[in-house]
Amino acid sequence: MTAIRSDALVFFGATGDLAYKKIFPALHAMARRGHLDIPVIGVARSGWTLEQFQARARDSIEEHGGGVDQAAFAKLSARLRLVGGDYKEADTFVALRKELGDAQHPVYYLAIPPGMFATVVEGLAQSGCDRDARVIVEKPFGRDLPSAQALNETLHATFDESSIFRIDHYLGKEAVQNLLVFRFANTFLEPIWNRHYVESVQITMAESFGVQGRGGFYEEAGAIRDVIQNHMLQVVSFLAMEPPADTHGEALRDEQVKVFRMIRPLSPDELVRGQFRGYRNEEDVALDSRVETFAAVRLSIDSWRWEGVPFLIRAGKHLPTTSTEVLVKLRRPPLSKLCPNEMNYVRFRLSPDVTIGIGARVKQPGDQMLSEATELKVVNHPGGDEMGAYERLLGDAMEGDATLFARQDAVEAAWAIVQPILGTSTTLHEYDPGTWGPPEAAQLAESSGGWHCPECAEPG
Ligand code: BG6
Repeated sequence: MTAIRSDALVFFGATGDLAYKKIFPALHAMARRGHLDIPVIGVARSGWTLEQFQARARDSIEEHGGGVDQAAFAKLSARLRLVGGDYKEADTFVALRKELGDAQHPVYYLAIPPGMFATVVEGLAQSGCDRDARVIVEKPFGRDLPSAQALNETLHATFDESSIFRIDHYLGKEAVQNLLVFRFANTFLEPIWNRHYVESVQITMAESFGVQGRGGFYEEAGAIRDVIQNHMLQVVSFLAMEPPADTHGEALRDEQVKVFRMIRPLSPDELVRGQFRGYRNEEDVALDSRVETFAAVRLSIDSWRWEGVPFLIRAGKHLPTTSTEVLVKLRRPPLSKLCPNEMNYVRFRLSPDVTIGIGARVKQPGDQMLSEATELKVVNHPGGDEMGAYERLLGDAMEGDATLFARQDAVEAAWAIVQPILGTSTTLHEYDPGTWGPPEAAQLAESSGGWHCPECAEPG
């Protein structure tokens, strides 16, 4: 069944940070591709004029959208509308209903703090704006399992699960989708993609910058809630899932949930938390904060395919580079004389560029039968006209395609994995900015040959 296309996009939090950094650039990119043909209504506190709103859109695109394309911006600007008012006031929603005009199937983007979701969703319901509508919500989907369940209840009071689109922008990334294509569009991989051939899997999400003025947010979140419970676990699900019956719709989302349910809930001895020196001097950060800006975990998947294969994840701010990489290490071949050190591996660089590398050994030139390491790069798309994650996801939500959005059961299953390690009671280690996190993290990866550093050409 083809889903009905949305005929208006409304975003709450129109003058906020998310709209500025992500939504306007995505809308501009859609307009450039000729994909934006519906009204775009911003809702924000009163006091803004439409001209100010359009100017803000222009600034946002200049700063975060790679520059303004005049023709595309003109199209976007002509579609922009603004409704001002308090989210607690019924009048705001009456004005919104009026601005929606003939639109029958609007999509609402809640680009606002989760604490305000209930107020807005109630306002939509009471004014009848919720009829035949969809809603898009941003992570964090709760801050632990109980609050995620409560948040889902709030949303479900008005919207059916099929009308809820939870954005985890990692799912919209070209490189993350490439994991699926590479796994399931190539025959050679499947026979070795299991515990018999794979020794360990690791993911490093390194960022060379700090909390970038988001100290207040970080104090509430920390690295586990910010990126491990969502982005990193989504990557694990794509790496570990069974072949889905279809790469679209519920078939894919069903396989994701199955992976999450087979991951053992983490225990504190499978975790190393770190905080960069200087974090406590950031704005809105407590002088005695025990929140982590780095976390490393060792996951176990109790499945037929993966039992006994460690899945290691580390993510942190102020690390030596900005890059996200997956390294799937294969077991050593039996003739170990030919393979003294590095083993074969498959390396996926997910960011900043899309690269897939296969680590192999070849003969060293010369009279001796010795091997040396080499890497076959199978994909590299520098500077292609890639669709940005937000552009793709906004377009999908408008089309009613939920494939790349987090489903309620998946969100809850992912929280269940990290639930035992949330909070600040576990040991916190300091690390110097520009290093690979606290030295204690090395122990987690010791039996798997150490952590792979994304900036290195080879695992090391
Ligand atoms: C966000 C996190 O969800 O993802 C940020 O809140 C993080 O802390 C960001 O920096 C990383 O996403 P990307 O696409 O820039 O790698």
